Amino acid sequence: MATYRKYKLTDNVYLLRLDDADTRFFEGIWPIPEGITYNAYIITTGEGSILIDGWKREFSSMFIEAIEEVTDLRDIRKIVIHHTEPDHTGSLDAVLRALGNVELLGTQFAKSMLEAFLGKSLPNFKPLKDGEKITLGDVELTFIHTPWLHWPDTAMTYYAEKKILFTCDAFGGYSIPRTVIDASEDIVNEYLPHARDYFANIVAKYSQHVIKAVDKLVSMGIDYKIVAPGHGLVWVNRPDIIVKSYLAWARGERFGGKFKVVIVYSSMYGNVEKMISSIVERLEGLDIELKVYKFTDKTHDNISDVLGDMLDADLIILGASTYEGALNPLMEKIVSSICSKFKGLRKRFIIVSSYGWAASADKELTRKLTDAGMEIIKNITYKGRPGRDLLEKASEDVVKVIRDIRGA
Ligand SMILES: Cc1cc2nc3c(=O)[nH]c(=O)nc-3n(C[C@H](O)[C@H](O)[C@H](O)COP(=O)(O)O)c2cc1C
Ligand SMILES: [Fe+2]
Ligand SMILES: [Fe+2]
Repeated sequence: MATYRKYKLTDNVYLLRLDDADTRFFEGIWPIPEGITYNAYIITTGEGSILIDGWKREFSSMFIEAIEEVTDLRDIRKIVIHHTEPDHTGSLDAVLRALGNVELLGTQFAKSMLEAFLGKSLPNFKPLKDGEKITLGDVELTFIHTPWLHWPDTAMTYYAEKKILFTCDAFGGYSIPRTVIDASEDIVNEYLPHARDYFANIVAKYSQHVIKAVDKLVSMGIDYKIVAPGHGLVWVNRPDIIVKSYLAWARGERFGGKFKVVIVYSSMYGNVEKMISSIVERLEGLDIELKVYKFTDKTHDNISDVLGDMLDADLIILGASTYEGALNPLMEKIVSSICSKFKGLRKRFIIVSSYGWAASADKELTRKLTDAGMEIIKNITYKGRPGRDLLEKASEDVVKVIRDIRGA
């Protein structure tokens, strides 16, 4: 079910938030049982309104309805497009049909991509230069190019008088938070893991661009008090939390919390699982955060969470058996996501693998992770089912690895 909320951020700035509980796989790929929101904004002025971004196409008629609760649709004079991915521009078709010749504003990339997505030329689309002003009535906005967050077309807009930074995908997150703003510590703590999963799935490959964009905001002296993204919470009380979290994730670091170990494994008949269970049992006594994800004949865990939890882990243990002369295909998929999205983060790994007649899973894992610049600290590979001695020794070895990292 999808519903929407309208929220007055300041005297003339409104949030229109669509709560999408229907989309089960974001981008058709990433499982999101927690749902997602699309945040659009309206700034009213004495001479009409400015619309910032939009919703997914299937919610177009609700979008028009929501706009009309704030302003007469015909009063919209300008539409700012920060990013052309259809989760923010799908509803534009319906808006343009109703409005005709309204002015569209965005980057040059956005113009060409939007024309391709909508299948028509947009003569009223005015590409904006970096730093260019958008003015209407007594409102002045600054358009800031922040490319590759996570497409080439992305930008932000700063409303200096109200100190609001509209950021679209950047600083966004999954889930349908109970409130629209960061109303309490509980709300923020509940939301941050969903924002981290979103970062890992959608933004992480472009981490260097996140760091660049934040540096740019600082060097431009952008003194924001409100961060207003295209997904998730609007940060009115503690915008520093989401910005610092994004920076930590872009560096592959934890934002607070205990030493974190994430274990992800696949096991067809339990031979890898036996070793993992022994390691888990040994680690449970330590003062660490331990997350375990599995892909077995009983359970397939959520891959969005797997990547999110790996992103800020201090140590990752990957377990996979040999399959048709290569690596178990479920782990292959996870490992290629890690190697593509977390390239350059130099995460630390321990590999656990089992084989029947000729080991190859560990070699595949080693090759892929090493090529992506990851560090492999230990390789625990064995034939068939692990015996008691091996289980004990391997578990102690893992504890020693953790001690060494923490002591370093
Ligand atoms: C469909 C399938 C394909 C396999 N392919 C290979 C292989 O190519 N080479 C090999 O050494 N073992 C292969 N094995 C054996 C497993 O790697 C081995 O039994 C391992 O211990 C299984 O661990 P698991 O039960 O945790 O998945 C295969 C097993 C299955 C079920
Ligand atoms: Fe996007
Ligand atoms: Fe988005």
